[in-house]
Amino acid sequence: MVQILVSYSSRSGNTEKLARAVARGAEQAGAQVVCKRASDTTKEDLPDGIILGSPVYFGTVTAEMKDLIDRSVGARRKLRNKVGAAFTTGGHHTGGKETTLLSMLMAFLIHEMVVVGDPIETGGHYGVACLGAPSADDERAGELLGARVADVARRLKGG
Ligand SMILES: Cc1cc2nc3c(=O)[nH]c(=O)nc-3n(C[C@H](O)[C@H](O)[C@H](O)COP(=O)(O)O)c2cc1C
Repeated sequence: MVQILVSYSSRSGNTEKLARAVARGAEQAGAQVVCKRASDTTKEDLPDGIILGSPVYFGTVTAEMKDLIDRSVGARRKLRNKVGAAFTTGGHHTGGKETTLLSMLMAFLIHEMVVVGDPIETGGHYGVACLGAPSADDERAGELLGARVADVARRLKGG
């Protein structure tokens, strides 16, 4: 069974709600999932796939998420070929959701991970993003992202 970590930052609950949907989707796809805050995530958390979620703060990730990314230097070389994906919530229609997603995807690339975007059914771009609190459709998009990461992780693991 593949292990998936969903690690998120959230102050007012929007990103946490989306994180729960992403975790649910990965679980429904047969993965064993741990869903926890970025501040509670350590380099001992070494799953087959990592899905990071952060609200947009000034066009990029929160300080809490940046701290996790910086601490992940302790897992250098241990994340090669594991799957990475990202999700975000923002307060404005544009406002930096794509730059925030890319900030997380860049860290995955530096770790030699295999980066996965959201499936074509939900847009097929850089990850899942929504405005404010996730709607039912946004939660469905989150579930599909989680399922896709679980599926790709399983294929890479040879299962
Ligand atoms: C310090 C701060 C900076 C923010 N900067 C942006 C921004 O640049 N663009 C944007 O669209 N929303 C911005 N927002 C709004 C949040 O991204 C948005 O409300 C988000 O859904 C909050 O997520 P949470 O409920 O998980 O904490 C900002 C909010 C805060 C508190």
